[in-house]
Amino acid sequence: MVWHPFTITEEPPIPIVRGKGVYLYGEDGRRYIDAISSWWVNLHGHAHPYIIEKIHAQAKELEHVIFAGFTHAPAAGLASRLLSYLPGGMSKVFYSDNGSTAVEVALKMALQYWYNQGAPKSRIISFKHGYHGDTFGAMSAAGKNAFNRPFWSHLFEVVSIEPPLAGLEDVSEQCLIQHLQRGDVACFLFEPLILAAGGMIMYPPHGLDRLLQRCKEYRVLTIADEVMTGFGRTGTLFACDQLVEKPDIICLSKGITGGFLPLGATACTEEVYKAFTKTGNPGTGNSGTGNSFLHGHSYTANPLACVASLASLDLLLEEECTHQRQTIQALHQAFCHTWRDHPRLARLSSLGTCLALEFKVDNGSYFHPIRNRLYKFFLERGILLRPLGNVLYVLPPYCIQEAELSYIYDKIGESL
Ligand SMILES: Cc1ncc(COP(=O)(O)O)c(C=O)c1O
Repeated sequence: MVWHPFTITEEPPIPIVRGKGVYLYGEDGRRYIDAISSWWVNLHGHAHPYIIEKIHAQAKELEHVIFAGFTHAPAAGLASRLLSYLPGGMSKVFYSDNGSTAVEVALKMALQYWYNQGAPKSRIISFKHGYHGDTFGAMSAAGKNAFNRPFWSHLFEVVSIEPPLAGLEDVSEQCLIQHLQRGDVACFLFEPLILAAGGMIMYPPHGLDRLLQRCKEYRVLTIADEVMTGFGRTGTLFACDQLVEKPDIICLSKGITGGFLPLGATACTEEVYKAFTKTGNPGTGNSGTGNSFLHGHSYTANPLACVASLASLDLLLEEECTHQRQTIQALHQAFCHTWRDHPRLARLSSLGTCLALEFKVDNGSYFHPIRNRLYKFFLERGILLRPLGNVLYVLPPYCIQEAELSYIYDKIGESL
């Protein structure tokens, strides 16, 4: 009856009836440690009472209202808090529903930014192995790959460059410069510090800084897709906090509501926003609509999602949560130190609360059969880990305790 996402096995789905903290409870009474934060959305554990209370209170007042021509305190309050924490001089927040739409909005903003100024530039640059979502724009932005093959003829062209992995910074920069010199590049979209769905590929900030500097030199807008890395995953509040250069646009989703409700947000600088105002740069906008950004979703800025997000931010900024993230980071690092020379591993790395292990196999990819074996192995031991092919990763809710992480590490050791 139900068609499940990204499901490539014939196994029936596991019915879950309850979640509490780091645990999910099955209909059959079994419990699972949610070691991937339910696709990276959960920050503080399941059914957190503080977030429940805030959503409950808001639901009694206002569950939703059209966001065109109307506003409400949760959306305004959340925008102002996000802007105060986001790196760089972000000035406006545009709400949508999920990570893919946050990216769609960013791409459309960047393209229209140039259009409104009568200087249309249309080329988009992104990283090889990047992933930005499953809508057409987000799929296109990642470049043609095995996931979007059925749609290749409908995807728009993007230029893919090598990411600046350690030691490959020059290659990446040279590749970027080559394309920037054409003069028609509108924007550069990137996942900062971790190429997530591409295999949790981690890279240091200095190479990315060089790319952003080049983009600034050539007057190209930069878009950070922090959908996965945002809200503390990489050791800082946002991955871009680790950069010297700052992006013009930032995409957020996933952890934004602590994992309670879907919400996307795209933040931009005043310079970007100005191009959309009537008093801004003289544009060539459509008659009647001026330079407006004609984009919106029915549930834009849903008040319940906004209060969940405000509550999640309260928790995220508590000393205890910061301490928890530091503990997870230290434990991941210790795990890497212990296992780094294991002959079954092609790669072992950690950044912030993310730990990634690449199993050494022939022709490693998302579709490698080791994926199903690992998935089952951990489920049978009460751990939800969902490998990306031969890449296993741990990205837990921040409330996970040392004993639970030790249990996960032990079972990873067994799997090796
Ligand atoms: C970096 C990045 N951007 C965008 C997305 C798409 O987000 P969503 O699945 O909420 O559409 C994802 C999802 O994994 C992601 O990792």
